[in-house]
Amino acid sequence: MWGGRFESAPDAIMEEINASIGFDQALFRQDIAASKAHVAMLAARGVVSSTDAEAISAGLDQVLGEIESGGFNFSRALEDIHMNVESRLSEIVGPAAGRLHTARSRNDQVAVDFRLWVRDAVDQLDGQLRDLQLALAETALAHAGSVMPGFTHLQPAQPVTFGHHLLAYVEMLGRDRGRFRDARARMNECPLGSAALAGTSFQIDRAMTASALGFDRPTANSLDSVSDRDFALETLSAIAICATHLSRFAEEIVLWTGPFFGFLRLSDKFSTGSSIMPQKRNPDAAELVRGKTGRMIGALNGLLIVMKGLPLAYSKDMQEDKEGVFDAVHSLSLCLAAVSGMVRDMTPDVERMRAAASSGYSTATDIADWLVRRLGMPFRQAHHVTGRIVALAASRGAELEQLSLEDLRTIDPAFEQDALDILAVEKSVASRTSFGGTAPRNVETQAEAWLARLRDDRRG
Ligand code: ARG
Repeated sequence: MWGGRFESAPDAIMEEINASIGFDQALFRQDIAASKAHVAMLAARGVVSSTDAEAISAGLDQVLGEIESGGFNFSRALEDIHMNVESRLSEIVGPAAGRLHTARSRNDQVAVDFRLWVRDAVDQLDGQLRDLQLALAETALAHAGSVMPGFTHLQPAQPVTFGHHLLAYVEMLGRDRGRFRDARARMNECPLGSAALAGTSFQIDRAMTASALGFDRPTANSLDSVSDRDFALETLSAIAICATHLSRFAEEIVLWTGPFFGFLRLSDKFSTGSSIMPQKRNPDAAELVRGKTGRMIGALNGLLIVMKGLPLAYSKDMQEDKEGVFDAVHSLSLCLAAVSGMVRDMTPDVERMRAAASSGYSTATDIADWLVRRLGMPFRQAHHVTGRIVALAASRGAELEQLSLEDLRTIDPAFEQDALDILAVEKSVASRTSFGGTAPRNVETQAEAWLARLRDDRRG
């Protein structure tokens, strides 16, 4: 392509380190769409004749067909997707194909192709996130009143409901979708026509190509357009945060499906066996969601490090921007599908959850609250009195629910019958009616609100 100034072919290792076709062929659709928009604009501005533009456009459609049907022969000597497409175009169209590269460069070409690819990826992930939110909200509604232990420090803290726990993830995923939406809005400016770095002397119409490709407007600074990859970084950041949410849930699935917790069961569809231990049912999908989060966070770190030392404008380092993004998008998509699958597959053991919720003195805070409410005791003192009640239960190897009124009165004679009533975990969760609290009525209202929102607004 630049043979004019060169006398010999590149060294084999030069070709190998330089080539990106092995991975950037994933951009073929975007590359061809951007080229078609570009040549149509060049024709509209009289920079190329409409005859040439039509031949080029038809040729590009043919290239697209060849790649889609698997009949295209990618060449490493041609480095990347841009030159592979253009070279094949010149075989089809002849010398007129050389007019396509007027008023542009591979620098703005790759910038526009990659933005288009990332924009599509964000839209696809949004649909998958919505689907997972639906699965979680549906299960949450069904289990708005199923009591389970709530944990802090992985120790029983206060009873909550399973539905409330699941809705916590619906909220997180809602914010994840917001992050993707924000990234999308900022990336939706078209760099095409920035050329190598300085713009072009041709009288091009950048607004025309921008709108043809579905962008809100053209980018305003040609140097910025070909230099920055913040759209990829923002997307990777949203991916890393979202993956971190999924990973925490995956960790809970791993714990809860194990024999010590036994809160959840995954069917054979989402369990694997051991080649040596016949009793095992391993939650491999959840473990892999947790594991793959590492590479998604790694992709964000990797690209930040690639970018941090680069002077403006383009440097070839930036070719390293793609594989991490492709891999992270693919990984998140797979994880979202796996978590949705597990949520729809899982069966909670509500008996066991309820039993676990009433162990570990989980309603101690309710006694302290009773002392405050009924006797006007300062909370710190109530905390102390309740601590003595817990110690009494512990000395007998009993749970709080098993204590009698006489037992309570040995600690404080002012206790009354209704203090015993609050010790049941159902009473405890039902009393948490503060906005955002775990009371089943709240959980039902929130789950229904989410479902209505998710069902009617396809973009959340
Ligand atoms: N394959 C290159 C990349 O992905 C395309 C841009 C090449 N530009 C250049 N000046 N060599 O970044």
